[in-house]
Amino acid sequence: MNSSPGFLGFFKTSIGRKWVVALTGLFLIFFVIVHMAGNLQMFAPTPDTINRYAELLKSNALVLWGFRAALLVATVLHIWGALSLARENRAAKPMNYAVTGRKARLGLTWASVTMVISGTVILGFVVFHLLHFTAQVVDRSYQEMEAVVDGRTMHDVHRMVVVGFSKPLISGFYVLAMGLLFFHLRHGAASVFQTIGIRDRALSRLIENASWALAVILFVGFSSIPVAVLLGVWKL
Ligand code: HEM
Repeated sequence: MNSSPGFLGFFKTSIGRKWVVALTGLFLIFFVIVHMAGNLQMFAPTPDTINRYAELLKSNALVLWGFRAALLVATVLHIWGALSLARENRAAKPMNYAVTGRKARLGLTWASVTMVISGTVILGFVVFHLLHFTAQVVDRSYQEMEAVVDGRTMHDVHRMVVVGFSKPLISGFYVLAMGLLFFHLRHGAASVFQTIGIRDRALSRLIENASWALAVILFVGFSSIPVAVLLGVWKL
């Protein structure tokens, strides 16, 4: 008789769900790094660079929708795994009076509270961001912005981003969300390696510092665009 939990059963165990959160988290980190690098083409000498790049990303529908589906699945699994682990942690220590403080009694650590709060705001941000720049329904005039690059007419993503961030409230919300992404990644990236079993002290320290550096780079890289727009780097 086989008493092992099986592939799907493994994901019901808490260590299985930790792996789900860790691996989907790594995939999402990979996406944000690539997305930030792509976005920094806003600073290229000509707007054609980012417009050409955006057009290229949408040139193969199968690749585009395959990647979007993978992102969606990773996001859903990441949230499901993280919330079920947080709930389980709380249930496991309902009356831990040895640790003082209401949050500690409820089994909530400061890190888990900030992860759930920052994660929720980031999710809200992503929904807004998709409506803003992908579906372009926050301001429908974005849909009509066109540029001619290499003799081809394409969407003027550069202009859309500049117009989008010229509203301080929207730029402010983006920078705030990037700040929360910073906190989320600083803790999250290091936890991934704890889950996959790296216990070596020197290596853990290195990973902790690398997570910190990555979080700073992403915060500065992403925020630089709305800040540059507000500083008037590009004229409308
Ligand atoms: C200042 C920061 C950012 C800028 C300027 C920016 C810019 C953009 C633009 C222009 C698009 C639409 C591309 C197009 O359809 O032509 C886009 C799509 C997207 N962005 Fe961002 N982004 C930023 C931050 C982020 C962050 C922090 C995340 C994730 C946490 C994110 C996640 C996404 C996703 C999931 C899409 C949809 C990709 C797709 O179409 O499949 N973005 N972004």
